[in-house]
Amino acid sequence: MNDKENDHVLGFFLNQKSCSIAKAEGIYLYDDQGNRIIDASGGAIVCSIGHGVKDIADIVAEQMQRVAFVFRRAFITPELELAAQKVCGTTNADMDRVFFVSGGSEATETAVKLARKYHIDNGNSGKYRVISRWQSYHGSTMGALSWSGFTSRRADFTPYLKDFVHLPATYCYRCWYGESPESCDLQCAQALENEILCLGPETVSAYIAEPVSGHSLAAAHPPDEHFKIIRQICDKYDVLMILDEVMSGIGRTGKWFAYQHHDVVPDIIALAKGLSAGYFPVGAAVLREKIYDVIANNSGIFGSGHTYGGNPVAAAVTCGVLDYLKENKLVDRCADMGEYLAAKLQTLRAHPTVGDIRGRGLLWGVEFVKDKATKACLDPQLHFSQQIQDQALRRGVHIESSFGCNRGQKGDTLIFGPPFIITEKQIDDLIEIIDETLSAVERRAGI
Ligand SMILES: Cc1ncc(COP(=O)(O)O)c(C=O)c1O
Repeated sequence: MNDKENDHVLGFFLNQKSCSIAKAEGIYLYDDQGNRIIDASGGAIVCSIGHGVKDIADIVAEQMQRVAFVFRRAFITPELELAAQKVCGTTNADMDRVFFVSGGSEATETAVKLARKYHIDNGNSGKYRVISRWQSYHGSTMGALSWSGFTSRRADFTPYLKDFVHLPATYCYRCWYGESPESCDLQCAQALENEILCLGPETVSAYIAEPVSGHSLAAAHPPDEHFKIIRQICDKYDVLMILDEVMSGIGRTGKWFAYQHHDVVPDIIALAKGLSAGYFPVGAAVLREKIYDVIANNSGIFGSGHTYGGNPVAAAVTCGVLDYLKENKLVDRCADMGEYLAAKLQTLRAHPTVGDIRGRGLLWGVEFVKDKATKACLDPQLHFSQQIQDQALRRGVHIESSFGCNRGQKGDTLIFGPPFIITEKQIDDLIEIIDETLSAVERRAGI
C-alpha cells in the first residue's frame, strides 16, 4: 500500500499499512470495508468489558464537561479519591494507596521508584538494585525496558539501558534448570536468594515479576508455591516484592488479581490495561500501607509523576469500569469462560505444531514447535506465528502473535485474551477459525 497522500502514521511495520478499524462493538471490530473481526486478544489484552459500552462513553462525556483536567501537584478530584478507594477495595484491603499514571510502563517505573523512596526514607539509601527475570516484560520506556527481559524488545536499545540483574525465566515448558513439573523443587524461586546474597542485600531494593507472563512467554506462569518462596525471600532481606499485573490484573485470570491465586500479598502492584478496559489511558502503582507510612512519616514527599497522571477523566473511567465489572459479575464470567476456552484450545493439540497450551482465566498462550517430542522450535525464517496472525485477520480474527520465547532466539506463540463477555458460541467460532488458519499455515510451511 503506497498511497502517499493518505499515509502519515508511523505504525509497527513501516512497509505495511495496518487494517483501519471504523467501529467496535462487543467482541467485534469492524474495518473500514465493513468486515467483522473477532477481537481475540482484546487489543493487547486490554478490552475486558468489550467494545462500545455506552455507560463508559457517557461517563467520559460527563466528566469532560465537569472537570477535564487539573494538575496533580496542587489538586485532586472526588473521582480520583473514589477511583483509589475502588481499586483498593478490589484488593480486599491488601493495598492502601494508589498512585495513578497513564499506562503500564509508567506504572512499573513508578513502582520501582516507590520502592527506592521507601528504602531511602527507611534509612537504607544503599538499596537501589532491581532484580527481575529474563523473558519478562515491564514496559518500553528506558527504565521499564531495563528490568524487562524480553530480548527482542531490548535489542536495539541496550546501550541506553541500566544493567540490572535478570534471573532465569519462570517457564515450565522449557525449564532453564532442566526440570519438569514432576521433579521441580522451584530452583527458579530459590535463585532470588542467591542473587540477593551475591549482590549484597544492602544494595537490593526490589524484585519485580509478572505472575502470568504476557507477550514474551505467552501466558506461562510458575507453580503456585513459587511466589510464596519469593515472598519469604523478599521479607528476609527487606526487598520489596513488586508484581506487574498490568496484563494479569483486574480480573483477567478469573480473580481480581493474579497474586490471589498464589496466596501471597505483594508490596506494590503495577496496573494498567484492564483498569480502564481500553476506554482511556490509565495505569497505577498500588501500594501497601506500610510503604506509604514510611514515606509519609519521613520525607513526606514522592516527587515523581507525569502531567496526565491522576487526571479526572481517567479516574472517572476507572470507577465506571470497576463498577461495570462488578455489576455484571464479569470476573466470575472470565473464570467460567476461561475454562471453556481452555477446553476448546485443547482441540488444537491435534495439530503437529502445537507444543504447549498454558494460561489462566481468559489469558492463554499456545506455543508452536517443529517436533513435539524434542520441543525443537520452528525455523524463525517461517515467521510462523506472524503468518497465523496475518492469515487469521483475513479470516476475521485478530489474534496477537509473538516470537522469541526460547531465550529470545526462537519460539512462536499466540496469545488469547478476549473480552470477558465472550460467549461459548463465539469461542467456538474463534477456535474454528484458528484451527483452519493453522492448517493453512502448516500446509504452506510444508508441515
Ligand atoms: C506485564 C506488562 N507490564 C507492562 C507493560 C507496559 O504497558 P504499556 O504498554 O501500557 O506501557 C505491558 C504491556 O504489554 C505488560 O504486558
